[in-house]
Amino acid sequence: MVISVPQPVFVDVDTGVDDAMALVYLFGSPDLELVGIASTAGNVPVQQVCQNNLGLLELCRIEEVPVSKGAEQPVSSPLRTAEDTHGPQGLGYATLPRTNRELTPYDAAQAWIKAAHAHPGELIAVATGPLTNLALAMREEPALPTLMRRLVIMGGAFEYRGNTTPVAEWNISVDPEAAQEVFSSWPAAWGSDRPRYLPIVLGLNLTEHIAMTPALLGRLAAEADSPTLPMSERDERGTRSSATNPLIRVLEDAMRFYFEFHFDQNEGYLAHLHDPLAAAVALDPGIVATRPATVDVELTGTLTRGMTIADWPGRWGREPNALIGIDVDPEAFFDRFIERVGGFARTLA
Ligand code: RIB
Ligand code: CA
Repeated sequence: MVISVPQPVFVDVDTGVDDAMALVYLFGSPDLELVGIASTAGNVPVQQVCQNNLGLLELCRIEEVPVSKGAEQPVSSPLRTAEDTHGPQGLGYATLPRTNRELTPYDAAQAWIKAAHAHPGELIAVATGPLTNLALAMREEPALPTLMRRLVIMGGAFEYRGNTTPVAEWNISVDPEAAQEVFSSWPAAWGSDRPRYLPIVLGLNLTEHIAMTPALLGRLAAEADSPTLPMSERDERGTRSSATNPLIRVLEDAMRFYFEFHFDQNEGYLAHLHDPLAAAVALDPGIVATRPATVDVELTGTLTRGMTIADWPGRWGREPNALIGIDVDPEAFFDRFIERVGGFARTLA
């Protein structure tokens, strides 16, 4: 009989709506031990990210997962937040249960280092917010890349428009210096003292294929044995979920705000699940196709600051430092997402 050992997983989030969906996907996934959650300022200020992470653990009755607070600001620029996209507290119209859970006494950068030292060569990490705390951790522990088994980053846009400026994606745009530090200091050479992998980088060019819709959200509610009325852009703004399941209620109330934002941006009554795709890839990299490239980040361009550039043909003469996601099967992703999150939600009924 093969006994599978739970894989240690560390996640760094700027918990907004899709980060929350990514966390719930991890909570509902088998064979993993969530060894830490780093809270990074981004969609909302870092204290609110911390509250969202603690509240989600409370809602989902998940014990023993340390939550750490990250830096208040990006490494060298003022913080911008996105309450217009994710709601005043980052989770749309949803409210989370109160909790007495507390943050770790150490910060998010230390949490990265502790998790890597505790699971040398085995740690699977996912970053779905700005790379502020990962960069700070790598400054303090340059060997961090060699201590991880896999790193998945949701960030950037490759031969694709931005969602924050015409060319920059949000996570990179909030802290371009941190992203540039992470990519430029990633040890490219592979060998005994080097990482045996490159970070998997999922940009908007890939994650915008993963569009949650009212119909898919209805499938999720049904999977959770908590069927709900289908959402529509014709609903009164802020209509609250009719779900009986506590998790489905929170996810629907969060997603409605996200749907409304995308609708107002003329993208349709839908919402891209950028971060849940990153979580799914962290557990099963085979669900996306990738190509190696050297990635760098524009820092000084008047119009292009925060743009991610992939040097596919190697014109810079630098070794590849990333595996860029280039293809995914959305249907296969949603089948797995709905099965796992719906099944997990049923345990909370
Ligand atoms: O650009 C999409 C990314 O920015 C996602 O991680 C979303 O949560 C926001 O942080
Ligand atoms: Ca995010």
